[in-house]
Amino acid sequence: MERLQKIIAQSGVTSRRKAEALITEGKVLVNGEKVTELGSKAKFSDEIIVNGVALNKEEPVTYLFYKPEGCVSTTSDDKERPTVLDFIRDKRRIYPIGRLDYDTSGLLLMTNEGDLANLLTQPNKDIEKIYEVSFTGVLRRKTSHIFEKGMILEKTKLKPVQVSNVKVNPTSEKTTCTLTLREGKNNQIKRMLAEFGHEVTRLKRIKLGPLTLDGLNKGQYRDLKPHERKILYQL
Ligand code: URA
Repeated sequence: MERLQKIIAQSGVTSRRKAEALITEGKVLVNGEKVTELGSKAKFSDEIIVNGVALNKEEPVTYLFYKPEGCVSTTSDDKERPTVLDFIRDKRRIYPIGRLDYDTSGLLLMTNEGDLANLLTQPNKDIEKIYEVSFTGVLRRKTSHIFEKGMILEKTKLKPVQVSNVKVNPTSEKTTCTLTLREGKNNQIKRMLAEFGHEVTRLKRIKLGPLTLDGLNKGQYRDLKPHERKILYQL
């Protein structure tokens, strides 16, 4: 959620100050409702109409981005840390679909297509997300079984998480493995592993549904191909 005046200003239709004036004058609708309070927040995917004109009139675009570590998956940051937007040379109202942590790298979709963003972030969507993870300690078979059955994390039953490619380094007492998730709760992997005393030292999302990072280096992005977009809409 972002302040409404900021979303309007970022869309390029007007300055932030003028957007504030338009809000207080009652000229802004969010999902069909007039919003006149300046503190109001909205999502980038909301339908926002300013002075009778819908904001999202830009050419739709979705990028597949290889997020590096050391940036936040939001469009701005209170602590002035780099954001994923710093990497995208596009003036459209682009925002990330879902999140990866500051210190997580990997595949992140960036879009201005609200319907696609809404579709892919629905909680009941069963989209496969695959991560490579390294962490402290030795992964016990018992822990893998619990992950694969669907563990209970802070009173919530998680969907089964598949564990594969387990490699244990007995000298350094570190484990790397691949985890396949079908949901994306906040800090899910770090919290799951922390329950068993493991601390994540490296986390990378390598696959989202049919999409991979093939051909991209960290910080690079590419347009989704038409057939990839079609598959995402069908997922
Ligand atoms: N799980 C986490 O803990 N962090 C991420 O960034 C993604 C999944």
